[in-house]
Amino acid sequence: MRVGLIGLGVMGWRIGVNLKNAGKLDVVYNRTQSKAEEFSRKFGVMKASSVQDLSKEVDLILLMLSDDQAVRDTVNLLLENVKGKTVVDMSTISPSLSVELAKEVEKRGGTMYDAPVVGTSIMVEQKRLNVLVGGPEHGFQEIKSLLLNTASTVLYMGRNGMGLYAKLVNNLLIGAYVASMAEAFNLGVRSGLDPKQVSEFLAKYSSARSPTSELKADMMATRDYSTQFATKHMRKDLEIIEREAQKLGVINPMSSLALQLYRMAEAMGLSEKDYASVLEIYSMSSRGKVDS
Ligand SMILES: NC(=O)c1ccc[n+]([C@@H]2O[C@H](COP(=O)([O-])OP(=O)(O)OC[C@H]3O[C@@H](n4cnc5c(N)ncnc54)[C@H](OP(=O)(O)O)[C@@H]3O)[C@@H](O)[C@H]2O)c1
Repeated sequence: MRVGLIGLGVMGWRIGVNLKNAGKLDVVYNRTQSKAEEFSRKFGVMKASSVQDLSKEVDLILLMLSDDQAVRDTVNLLLENVKGKTVVDMSTISPSLSVELAKEVEKRGGTMYDAPVVGTSIMVEQKRLNVLVGGPEHGFQEIKSLLLNTASTVLYMGRNGMGLYAKLVNNLLIGAYVASMAEAFNLGVRSGLDPKQVSEFLAKYSSARSPTSELKADMMATRDYSTQFATKHMRKDLEIIEREAQKLGVINPMSSLALQLYRMAEAMGLSEKDYASVLEIYSMSSRGKVDS
C-alpha cells in the first residue's frame, strides 16, 4: 500500500517523520511548497506539486490540516482521483462536515475516516498519540496498523464523525481546565505565593493534577508559551463544540465561557502561542501586585 501525507505543520511534519522512519511514507504535499521541499530533501521522500498529483501516486491519503476550510478544499481536490482509495483525516474539524465529506468520497468510490488525535507535538515524537477513528469498521485494522507507527493507541469509536465527537469531548474538558488553571494560578500568585511553588503544586500535588497540568503549570510560571497547541486551534475547537452543542440541543456553559477567554487571548496577539497563554488575560485584568 502506497501512502501519501498532506499537511506538514507542527503535527503533520512529525507524523511524517515517524512514518518515513517506519518505511511507510511514499509522498508528501504541503500548501506552502517550501515545507514539502525541505521535508523531501531531509528525509528522501517524494514531494508532489499538487493535491491531485499526490492522489495519483498513492492508495491511502493522510490529512493533517488546520481546520474545516483546509480539509474541505483539499478533499474537493481529491475527489477526482479518489476511486478505490482511502482518505484518513487526522485534523480536528467539525464532525458534521466530516460526515458530509465522507459521503462525497463514498459517492466517488472511495472511503473516508476521521482520525483526530489526542496528544501534543512532543507526544508525536515519542509515538504516544491516541487516535480516535470513525468510519466503516471493515477497513479499521489496516488503518490501525499504519497509525501504530506514530501512535501508541488507535481506538475505533464508531461510524463517520464519531472519532471527532470523541475528540471534542477531550478538548471541551482541557479547554475549560486550562482556563480554570490560569484563574487558579493567577489567584495564587496575586496572594503572594511564589509562581514556581504554585506551578509545582498544580503539577504534582493538587487533587486536580493531570497530564495537562504537568505540561501547562510550568509554562504559566515561566510565561514561556512556546507552542505545543496554539490558542487559535483551541479557539477553533471550542467554536466547533459551540456549533455542535447547538445542533444537539445540549447546554455547554463551561466551554462557552472558556471560548470567550481564548478569543480575548487571540485579540491580545497570542493566537500562535500555546493556549496556556490564556493566563495573560487574567494577569492583565487583575488589580494589585503583578509579576514579581
Ligand atoms: N498541535 C497540537 O498539539 C495538536 C494536537 C491535537 C490535534 N491538533 C489538530 O491537528 C491539526 C493540525 O494541527 P497543527 O498544530 O499541525 O497545525 P499547523 O502547524 O497550523 O499546520 C496546519 C497545516 O494545514 C495547512 N493548511 C492550513 N490551511 C490550509 C488550506 N486552506 N489549504 C491547504 N492546507 C492548509 C498548513 O499549510 P501551510 O504550511 O501552507 O500553512 C499546514 O500544513 C489541527 O486541526 C489541530 O487542531 C493539533
